[in-house]
Amino acid sequence: MSGIDWEALRARAVLAAKSAYAPYSGLHVGVAGLVDDGRVVTGCNVENASYGVGLCAECTMAGQLRLSGGGRLTAVACRSGAGDLLMPCGRCRQILFELGGGSCLVDTPSGILPMTSVLPDAFGPADLP
Ligand code: THU
Repeated sequence: MSGIDWEALRARAVLAAKSAYAPYSGLHVGVAGLVDDGRVVTGCNVENASYGVGLCAECTMAGQLRLSGGGRLTAVACRSGAGDLLMPCGRCRQILFELGGGSCLVDTPSGILPMTSVLPDAFGPADLP
């Protein structure tokens, strides 16, 4: 879809999951995002003994996006270390919406969908005064 190499993006997500720190849930999560300049940025979950402050893979990817030059996310794939497709949690959908907008494509169990479908009627920058 859209000339995007989804298999390569999924493979990068699985590879990123190998770096996960997930001693509490045991779920190793990796995410890969295609940036509008052609870069691929990745992230992995980083858990914490204070469970609630653990970081989702999308959060660390957001940092990588900014640290490696910024830009807009155009496509995102999230996978477990075992290769299973995972959907971004609600909070992470908001983070992806901020950095990719409504047209950013997401790999979902229902196929490749835009953020407008993954997070309908999203609150976003346009809602601020
Ligand atoms: N997790 C993510 O990394 N991204 C998501 O979008 C959903 C959940 C992580 C958080 C936690 O480390 C583990 O998955 C189990 O919830």
